[in-house]
Amino acid sequence: MKILQLNKPLAPISFDALRLQADRIRHASVGDAVYLRGVIEFSNFCRCNCLYCGLRKDNALLQRYRLNEQGVMAAAKEAARAGVDTIVLQSGEDPAYRKRLVARIVSRIKDETGLAVTLSLGVRSTATYQLWRRAGADRYLLKHESADAGLYAALHPGGGLDDRIDAIKRLQDAGFAVGTGFIVGLPGQNDAVLMQDIMLTQALQVEMCGVGPFIPQHNTPLAGEQAGSVGKTLKIIAYLRSHIPRLNIPATTALASLSPEYGQEMALKAGANVIMPNFTPEKHRAKYRIYDGKVRVSMADAYAAIDKTRPLRKSAEERPACNSALHIFPNAPAAYWADVAKGGAQ
Ligand code: 5AD
Ligand code: SF4
Repeated sequence: MKILQLNKPLAPISFDALRLQADRIRHASVGDAVYLRGVIEFSNFCRCNCLYCGLRKDNALLQRYRLNEQGVMAAAKEAARAGVDTIVLQSGEDPAYRKRLVARIVSRIKDETGLAVTLSLGVRSTATYQLWRRAGADRYLLKHESADAGLYAALHPGGGLDDRIDAIKRLQDAGFAVGTGFIVGLPGQNDAVLMQDIMLTQALQVEMCGVGPFIPQHNTPLAGEQAGSVGKTLKIIAYLRSHIPRLNIPATTALASLSPEYGQEMALKAGANVIMPNFTPEKHRAKYRIYDGKVRVSMADAYAAIDKTRPLRKSAEERPACNSALHIFPNAPAAYWADVAKGGAQ
Protein backbone atom coordinates (compact mmCIF):
# COMPACT_ATOMS: atom_id res chain seq x y z
CA MET A 1 0.00 0.00 0.00
CA LYS A 2 1.30 3.40 -0.98
CA ILE A 3 1.84 5.92 1.81
CA LEU A 4 -0.89 8.48 1.35
CA GLN A 5 -0.21 12.18 1.50
CA LEU A 6 -2.75 14.39 3.20
CA ASN A 7 -4.76 16.08 0.49
CA LYS A 8 -5.86 19.70 0.43
CA PRO A 9 -8.91 19.62 2.74
CA LEU A 10 -6.89 17.82 5.40
CA ALA A 11 -3.78 19.95 4.99
CA PRO A 12 -4.61 23.63 4.77
CA ILE A 13 -1.57 24.46 6.91
CA SER A 14 1.86 22.91 7.38
CA PHE A 15 2.33 20.11 9.87
CA ASP A 16 4.52 22.37 12.03
CA ALA A 17 1.83 25.03 12.21
CA LEU A 18 -0.85 22.40 12.74
CA ARG A 19 0.74 20.72 15.73
CA LEU A 20 1.64 24.06 17.30
CA GLN A 21 -1.96 25.14 16.91
CA ALA A 22 -3.17 21.84 18.39
CA ASP A 23 -0.79 22.22 21.33
CA ARG A 24 -2.10 25.71 22.06
CA ILE A 25 -5.72 24.60 21.76
CA ARG A 26 -5.00 21.65 24.07
CA HIS A 27 -3.50 24.00 26.64
CA ALA A 28 -6.37 26.49 26.43
CA SER A 29 -9.27 24.02 26.40
CA VAL A 30 -8.28 21.04 28.59
CA GLY A 31 -5.16 22.37 30.32
CA ASP A 32 -1.77 20.80 30.91
CA ALA A 33 -2.76 17.71 32.91
CA VAL A 34 -2.03 14.32 31.37
CA TYR A 35 -4.48 11.70 32.61
CA LEU A 36 -3.05 8.27 33.40
CA ARG A 37 -5.47 5.43 32.83
CA GLY A 38 -4.30 1.97 33.82
CA VAL A 39 -5.38 -0.76 31.41
CA ILE A 40 -6.01 -4.34 32.52
CA GLU A 41 -6.52 -6.74 29.60
CA PHE A 42 -8.38 -9.45 31.46
CA SER A 43 -9.43 -11.80 28.63
CA ASN A 44 -8.18 -12.26 25.09
CA PHE A 45 -11.09 -14.46 23.99
CA CYS A 46 -13.11 -12.83 21.22
CA ARG A 47 -16.19 -13.87 19.28
CA CYS A 48 -15.45 -11.39 16.47
CA ASN A 49 -13.32 -11.78 13.41
CA CYS A 50 -12.06 -8.27 12.63
CA LEU A 51 -9.61 -8.74 9.76
CA TYR A 52 -6.86 -6.60 11.31
CA CYS A 53 -6.81 -8.00 14.84
CA GLY A 54 -4.72 -10.80 16.31
CA LEU A 55 -7.41 -11.65 18.89
CA ARG A 56 -9.89 -12.57 16.13
CA LYS A 57 -11.79 -15.80 16.69
CA ASP A 58 -10.18 -17.58 13.74
CA ASN A 59 -6.65 -17.04 15.03
CA ALA A 60 -6.13 -20.57 16.32
CA LEU A 61 -2.46 -19.88 17.01
CA LEU A 62 -3.14 -17.45 19.84
CA GLN A 63 -2.96 -18.86 23.35
CA ARG A 64 -6.10 -17.65 25.12
CA TYR A 65 -6.43 -16.58 28.76
CA ARG A 66 -8.94 -15.18 31.23
CA LEU A 67 -8.04 -13.56 34.54
CA ASN A 68 -10.31 -14.49 37.43
CA GLU A 69 -11.81 -11.95 39.83
CA GLN A 70 -8.83 -12.19 42.15
CA GLY A 71 -6.41 -11.62 39.26
CA VAL A 72 -8.27 -8.53 38.05
CA MET A 73 -8.49 -7.10 41.58
CA ALA A 74 -4.77 -7.62 42.19
CA ALA A 75 -3.92 -5.81 38.93
CA ALA A 76 -6.37 -3.00 39.75
CA LYS A 77 -4.82 -2.48 43.17
CA GLU A 78 -1.34 -2.44 41.68
CA ALA A 79 -2.45 0.23 39.18
CA ALA A 80 -4.07 2.25 41.99
CA ARG A 81 -0.87 2.09 44.06
CA ALA A 82 1.12 3.22 41.02
CA GLY A 83 -1.01 6.38 40.83
CA VAL A 84 -3.41 6.04 37.88
CA ASP A 85 -6.65 8.04 38.00
CA THR A 86 -8.81 5.45 36.22
CA ILE A 87 -8.93 1.66 35.87
CA VAL A 88 -9.71 0.53 32.33
CA LEU A 89 -10.97 -3.05 32.04
CA GLN A 90 -10.44 -4.29 28.50
CA SER A 91 -11.08 -7.62 26.76
CA GLY A 92 -12.10 -9.15 23.46
CA GLU A 93 -15.85 -9.67 23.03
CA ASP A 94 -16.06 -12.50 25.53
CA PRO A 95 -19.65 -13.18 26.68
CA ALA A 96 -18.40 -16.26 28.53
CA TYR A 97 -16.93 -13.81 31.03
CA ARG A 98 -20.28 -13.44 32.77
CA LYS A 99 -21.83 -9.99 32.85
CA ARG A 100 -22.64 -10.33 36.56
CA LEU A 101 -19.04 -11.15 37.33
CA VAL A 102 -17.97 -8.01 35.42
CA ALA A 103 -20.51 -6.00 37.45
CA ARG A 104 -19.18 -7.40 40.73
CA ILE A 105 -15.58 -6.60 39.77
CA VAL A 106 -16.58 -3.05 38.76
CA SER A 107 -18.25 -2.37 42.09
CA ARG A 108 -15.34 -3.88 44.01
CA ILE A 109 -12.83 -1.69 42.15
CA LYS A 110 -14.96 1.39 42.86
CA ASP A 111 -15.29 0.48 46.55
CA GLU A 112 -11.74 -0.66 47.15
CA THR A 113 -9.76 1.89 45.11
CA GLY A 114 -12.15 4.86 44.80
CA LEU A 115 -11.00 5.31 41.19
CA ALA A 116 -13.09 5.86 38.08
CA VAL A 117 -13.75 2.70 36.05
CA THR A 118 -13.81 2.52 32.27
CA LEU A 119 -15.00 -0.59 30.41
CA SER A 120 -13.88 -1.62 26.95
CA LEU A 121 -15.67 -4.91 26.31
CA GLY A 122 -17.29 -4.47 22.91
CA VAL A 123 -20.89 -4.57 21.71
CA ARG A 124 -23.39 -5.92 24.23
CA SER A 125 -27.12 -5.64 24.93
CA THR A 126 -28.63 -2.50 26.39
CA ALA A 127 -29.57 -4.47 29.52
CA THR A 128 -25.92 -5.47 30.00
CA TYR A 129 -24.73 -1.89 29.53
CA GLN A 130 -27.30 -0.74 32.10
CA LEU A 131 -26.23 -3.43 34.55
CA TRP A 132 -22.59 -2.33 34.32
CA ARG A 133 -23.53 1.31 34.64
CA ARG A 134 -25.58 0.58 37.78
CA ALA A 135 -22.58 -1.32 39.15
CA GLY A 136 -20.67 1.96 38.99
CA ALA A 137 -18.76 1.94 35.69
CA ASP A 138 -18.25 5.56 34.63
CA ARG A 139 -17.04 5.36 31.03
CA TYR A 140 -16.98 2.98 28.06
CA LEU A 141 -14.62 2.77 25.10
CA LEU A 142 -16.10 1.49 21.85
CA LYS A 143 -14.23 2.64 18.78
CA HIS A 144 -16.09 3.16 15.52
CA GLU A 145 -12.84 1.93 13.84
CA SER A 146 -13.73 3.39 10.42
CA ALA A 147 -16.45 5.86 9.46
CA ASP A 148 -16.66 4.47 5.92
CA ALA A 149 -19.52 1.95 5.89
CA GLY A 150 -18.02 -0.04 2.99
CA LEU A 151 -14.58 -0.26 4.58
CA TYR A 152 -16.16 -1.10 7.95
CA ALA A 153 -18.15 -3.96 6.40
CA ALA A 154 -15.10 -5.29 4.55
CA LEU A 155 -13.07 -5.41 7.76
CA HIS A 156 -15.75 -6.73 10.14
CA PRO A 157 -17.39 -9.96 8.96
CA GLY A 158 -20.99 -10.02 10.12
CA GLY A 159 -20.87 -6.47 11.45
CA GLY A 160 -21.99 -3.10 10.15
CA LEU A 161 -21.12 0.49 10.98
CA ASP A 162 -24.78 1.25 11.79
CA ASP A 163 -24.82 -1.34 14.58
CA ARG A 164 -21.59 0.06 15.95
CA ILE A 165 -22.93 3.61 16.02
CA ASP A 166 -26.15 2.29 17.55
CA ALA A 167 -24.13 0.65 20.36
CA ILE A 168 -22.28 3.92 21.01
CA LYS A 169 -25.63 5.72 21.32
CA ARG A 170 -27.03 2.99 23.59
CA LEU A 171 -24.00 3.45 25.85
CA GLN A 172 -24.59 7.20 25.98
CA ASP A 173 -28.29 6.61 26.76
CA ALA A 174 -27.26 4.27 29.59
CA GLY A 175 -25.32 7.18 31.08
CA PHE A 176 -21.73 6.37 30.17
CA ALA A 177 -19.15 8.93 29.13
CA VAL A 178 -18.13 7.29 25.87
CA GLY A 179 -14.89 7.14 23.96
CA THR A 180 -14.67 6.28 20.29
CA GLY A 181 -11.62 5.88 18.08
CA PHE A 182 -10.37 4.81 14.70
CA ILE A 183 -7.40 3.30 12.93
CA VAL A 184 -5.12 5.28 10.59
CA GLY A 185 -3.63 3.53 7.58
CA LEU A 186 -6.07 0.67 7.15
CA PRO A 187 -5.74 -0.96 3.74
CA GLY A 188 -8.30 0.67 1.47
CA GLN A 189 -8.51 3.86 3.54
CA ASN A 190 -7.87 7.28 2.04
CA ASP A 191 -7.80 10.82 3.38
CA ALA A 192 -11.46 11.39 2.61
CA VAL A 193 -12.26 8.49 4.97
CA LEU A 194 -10.10 10.05 7.69
CA MET A 195 -12.04 13.29 7.26
CA GLN A 196 -15.23 11.26 7.77
CA ASP A 197 -13.68 9.71 10.90
CA ILE A 198 -13.07 13.16 12.37
CA MET A 199 -16.55 14.34 11.44
CA LEU A 200 -18.22 11.23 12.85
CA THR A 201 -16.25 11.65 16.09
CA GLN A 202 -17.63 15.17 16.33
CA ALA A 203 -21.18 14.11 15.48
CA LEU A 204 -21.17 11.37 18.12
CA GLN A 205 -20.49 13.93 20.87
CA VAL A 206 -18.12 11.58 22.67
CA GLU A 207 -15.72 12.53 25.45
CA MET A 208 -12.70 10.72 24.08
CA CYS A 209 -11.20 9.51 20.82
CA GLY A 210 -8.23 7.16 20.46
CA VAL A 211 -6.34 7.19 17.17
CA GLY A 212 -3.66 4.65 16.39
CA PRO A 213 -1.81 3.53 13.28
CA PHE A 214 -2.72 0.19 11.71
CA ILE A 215 -0.04 -2.41 12.52
CA PRO A 216 -0.19 -5.80 10.80
CA GLN A 217 -0.41 -9.00 12.87
CA HIS A 218 1.14 -12.03 11.26
CA ASN A 219 -1.75 -14.45 11.91
CA THR A 220 -4.46 -12.27 10.35
CA PRO A 221 -5.69 -11.83 6.76
CA LEU A 222 -3.97 -8.40 6.71
CA ALA A 223 -0.56 -9.84 7.67
CA GLY A 224 1.09 -8.70 4.44
CA GLU A 225 -0.19 -5.12 4.47
CA GLN A 226 1.86 -2.07 5.24
CA ALA A 227 1.60 -0.36 8.62
CA GLY A 228 0.05 3.10 8.94
CA SER A 229 2.39 6.03 9.38
CA VAL A 230 3.32 7.71 12.64
CA GLY A 231 3.42 11.09 10.90
CA LYS A 232 -0.07 10.80 9.54
CA THR A 233 -1.44 9.58 12.89
CA LEU A 234 0.08 12.64 14.57
CA LYS A 235 -1.53 14.89 11.98
CA ILE A 236 -4.91 13.32 12.66
CA ILE A 237 -4.44 13.80 16.41
CA ALA A 238 -3.60 17.46 15.79
CA TYR A 239 -6.68 17.86 13.55
CA LEU A 240 -8.90 16.22 16.15
CA ARG A 241 -7.65 18.54 18.88
CA SER A 242 -8.07 21.59 16.65
CA HIS A 243 -11.53 20.53 15.51
CA ILE A 244 -12.93 19.22 18.83
CA PRO A 245 -11.04 21.21 21.49
CA ARG A 246 -12.37 19.55 24.65
CA LEU A 247 -11.93 15.95 23.54
CA ASN A 248 -9.74 13.61 25.59
CA ILE A 249 -7.16 12.18 23.21
CA PRO A 250 -4.80 9.38 24.24
CA ALA A 251 -1.24 8.99 23.04
CA THR A 252 -1.95 5.41 21.98
CA THR A 253 0.09 2.27 22.58
CA ALA A 254 0.01 1.62 18.83
CA LEU A 255 1.93 4.88 18.31
CA ALA A 256 4.40 3.84 21.01
CA SER A 257 4.77 0.46 19.32
CA LEU A 258 5.75 1.97 15.95
CA SER A 259 7.92 4.65 17.55
CA PRO A 260 8.95 3.50 21.06
CA GLU A 261 11.30 6.39 21.59
CA TYR A 262 9.18 9.31 20.41
CA GLY A 263 5.62 8.17 19.69
CA GLN A 264 3.88 9.18 22.90
CA GLU A 265 5.95 12.30 23.46
CA MET A 266 5.11 13.49 19.97
CA ALA A 267 1.42 12.74 20.46
CA LEU A 268 1.38 14.77 23.70
CA LYS A 269 2.98 17.64 21.81
CA ALA A 270 0.45 17.37 18.98
CA GLY A 271 -2.70 17.60 21.10
CA ALA A 272 -3.00 14.39 23.14
CA ASN A 273 -3.68 14.55 26.90
CA VAL A 274 -4.05 10.93 28.08
CA ILE A 275 -1.66 7.99 28.44
CA MET A 276 -2.87 4.47 29.16
CA PRO A 277 -0.15 2.48 30.93
CA ASN A 278 -0.54 -1.28 30.94
CA PHE A 279 -1.15 -3.34 34.11
CA THR A 280 -1.97 -6.71 32.57
CA PRO A 281 -0.10 -9.34 34.61
CA GLU A 282 3.25 -10.07 33.01
CA LYS A 283 2.42 -13.73 32.56
CA HIS A 284 -0.31 -12.92 30.04
CA ARG A 285 0.82 -9.63 28.54
CA ALA A 286 2.34 -11.02 25.34
CA LYS A 287 -0.87 -12.93 24.61
CA TYR A 288 -2.89 -9.74 24.17
CA ARG A 289 -1.36 -9.57 20.76
CA ILE A 290 -3.73 -7.32 18.83
CA TYR A 291 -0.84 -6.52 16.46
CA ASP A 292 2.81 -7.50 16.19
CA GLY A 293 5.42 -5.65 18.20
CA LYS A 294 2.92 -4.26 20.74
CA VAL A 295 5.02 -2.62 23.45
CA ARG A 296 4.13 -2.40 27.10
CA VAL A 297 3.66 1.20 28.18
CA SER A 298 4.69 1.28 31.86
CA MET A 299 4.15 4.11 34.36
CA ALA A 300 7.83 4.95 33.95
CA ASP A 301 7.37 5.22 30.17
CA ALA A 302 4.34 7.46 30.69
CA TYR A 303 6.21 9.77 33.05
CA ALA A 304 9.23 9.85 30.73
CA ALA A 305 7.04 10.97 27.82
CA ILE A 306 5.33 13.60 29.97
CA ASP A 307 8.65 14.88 31.30
CA LYS A 308 9.90 15.45 27.77
CA THR A 309 6.93 17.74 27.12
CA ARG A 310 7.41 19.86 30.26
CA PRO A 311 9.06 22.83 28.51
CA LEU A 312 5.97 23.12 26.34
CA ARG A 313 3.43 22.57 29.08
CA LYS A 314 3.73 26.19 30.21
CA SER A 315 1.33 29.00 29.53
CA ALA A 316 0.95 29.83 25.85
CA GLU A 317 2.76 33.17 26.30
CA GLU A 318 5.81 31.50 27.80
CA ARG A 319 6.24 29.13 24.89
CA PRO A 320 8.88 29.64 22.27
CA ALA A 321 7.35 31.40 19.29
CA CYS A 322 9.27 29.21 16.94
CA ASN A 323 7.96 26.61 14.57
CA SER A 324 11.13 24.76 13.75
CA ALA A 325 10.64 21.02 14.21
CA LEU A 326 13.88 20.76 16.14
CA HIS A 327 12.82 23.39 18.60
CA ILE A 328 9.41 21.92 19.26
CA PHE A 329 10.53 18.31 19.40
CA PRO A 330 14.08 18.78 20.68
CA ASN A 331 14.79 15.09 21.17
CA ALA A 332 14.09 13.83 17.67
CA PRO A 333 16.81 13.80 15.06
CA ALA A 334 16.36 16.25 12.20
CA ALA A 335 16.12 13.55 9.56
CA TYR A 336 13.30 11.92 11.47
CA TRP A 337 11.33 15.14 11.53
CA ALA A 338 11.89 15.78 7.89
CA ASP A 339 10.23 12.42 7.32
CA VAL A 340 7.35 13.08 9.68
CA ALA A 341 6.64 16.39 8.00
CA LYS A 342 6.29 14.51 4.72
CA GLY A 343 3.87 12.09 6.39
CA GLY A 344 6.15 9.12 5.96
CA ALA A 345 8.01 8.49 9.22
CA GLN A 346 7.37 5.14 10.82
N1 5AD B 1 -3.51 -2.31 14.30
C1 5AD B 1 -3.90 -1.22 15.02
N2 5AD B 1 -4.92 -1.22 15.88
C2 5AD B 1 -5.60 -2.37 16.04
N3 5AD B 1 -6.65 -2.68 16.81
C3 5AD B 1 -6.94 -3.97 16.61
N4 5AD B 1 -6.11 -4.51 15.70
C4 5AD B 1 -5.25 -3.54 15.33
C5 5AD B 1 -4.16 -3.47 14.42
N5 5AD B 1 -3.78 -4.53 13.72
C6 5AD B 1 -7.31 -1.74 17.71
C7 5AD B 1 -8.73 -1.51 17.32
C8 5AD B 1 -9.53 -2.08 18.45
C9 5AD B 1 -8.56 -2.25 19.57
C10 5AD B 1 -8.79 -3.51 20.32
O1 5AD B 1 -7.29 -2.27 19.00
O2 5AD B 1 -8.98 -0.13 17.18
O3 5AD B 1 -10.58 -1.25 18.87
FE1 SF4 C 1 -12.19 -8.80 18.92
FE2 SF4 C 1 -11.79 -6.16 19.28
FE3 SF4 C 1 -9.98 -7.67 18.03
FE4 SF4 C 1 -12.27 -7.15 16.82
S1 SF4 C 1 -10.69 -5.63 17.38
S2 SF4 C 1 -11.26 -9.17 16.93
S3 SF4 C 1 -13.69 -7.16 18.56
S4 SF4 C 1 -10.58 -7.85 20.18
